[in-house]
Amino acid sequence: MFRTLTLAPPDAIFGLTEAFGRDPNPDKINLGAGVFKDEAGRTPVLAAVTAAERRLVDGERSKVYRPIVGEARYGELVRDLVFGDEPPPGLGDRCVTAHSPGGTGALRVVGECLAKLPRRPTVWVTTPTWANHRAIFSAAGLRLEALPYFDATANALDFGALLDGLNRPAPGDVVLLHGCCHNPTGVDPSPTQWQQIAERLSARELLPLVDFAYQGFGDGLQEDAQGVRMLAERLPELIVCSSFSKNFGLYNERTGAVSILAENADAAELVRSNLKVAIRSNYSNPPAHGANIVRTILDDAELASGWRAELAMMRDRIRGMRTLFVETLAAKRASLDGAAILRQRGMFSLIPGVGPAAAQSMRDKYSVYIVDSGRINVAGITPSNVERLCDALVGVL
Ligand SMILES: Cc1ncc(COP(=O)(O)O)c(C=O)c1O
Repeated sequence: MFRTLTLAPPDAIFGLTEAFGRDPNPDKINLGAGVFKDEAGRTPVLAAVTAAERRLVDGERSKVYRPIVGEARYGELVRDLVFGDEPPPGLGDRCVTAHSPGGTGALRVVGECLAKLPRRPTVWVTTPTWANHRAIFSAAGLRLEALPYFDATANALDFGALLDGLNRPAPGDVVLLHGCCHNPTGVDPSPTQWQQIAERLSARELLPLVDFAYQGFGDGLQEDAQGVRMLAERLPELIVCSSFSKNFGLYNERTGAVSILAENADAAELVRSNLKVAIRSNYSNPPAHGANIVRTILDDAELASGWRAELAMMRDRIRGMRTLFVETLAAKRASLDGAAILRQRGMFSLIPGVGPAAAQSMRDKYSVYIVDSGRINVAGITPSNVERLCDALVGVL
């Protein structure tokens, strides 16, 4: 039977990490996968996480199954992180939060729930978007369509085209937006633009699905949630998929959540029951460890403030490297718009003019690994590799 299969292509990003591993060059640079790295190029375990794990090891008495949607307390803490400690009145009764295996797990469970709606919606994604969005929603049986988003020439949001594009989906369709730190462009709407997006979604009766994988990596935990919170105030229904892979550094613990706002408490019960069915037939119930860590940290004032400080350190390091990158490019007289790169937020930057051929030559000639689309992970830049990175970019441009 298996001989009838055709060879599937390697994953664009994990495949790049494998190729990086095989490269014997001691000066190789990996700016592919979206993971935070410190000045020494390591992806550390946060101190708050280690402290929480110590407590968990000492206190854990059983590994019995968790509820299908995870622990209620975890759900409350995630809800407050997303919607704030003082959310709009009544939001608590309208909101169902389920613990999921990472942000990917959250998106997939949402996809399966959407595919069961009596009128199966189309999912509209920004151009470009995280490559896995298409794979996840088509695997769940949904049709995808593209919305304009990025103006490659200006290296900026094409807001007029996005607003216009929002006139195309049919009422009831789903619009997938990045809560902050858009992957791969680093280009986000301003608060005023979020307000206009919320109004357009409401007027056109569209359902926003916010992928919130980088809360705290842009301008801060609260600042990064402004867009999501505006949508929550303006719209009767909203879906948010959170990932704690990046902001808690829990990549391999597969920790995330889906929060769904329904128009009232009765509709929220319908949502909860259907979410449970989608989860039960998928992975049955969530893996506990990562969520235990997040709950332990967020429920303890001291651990939570330590975590916020570590998150700020990660954010500041990425910003510092963005500035250093732009300054080094300028010193080499590279023909790139530094101001546009500095306006971007989060881990990523999409380098104009770099496509698959240039990315390939960066690998072959310079052992610099970036995604074929020209996306670089700014968090992989260090003071000791920035010169070589910029030489490679200038070389291929
Ligand atoms: C935009 C976006 N959404 C979701 C995810 C998934 O995160 P997780 O590793 O928690 O599944 C990522 C990870 O890179 C991402 O960039």
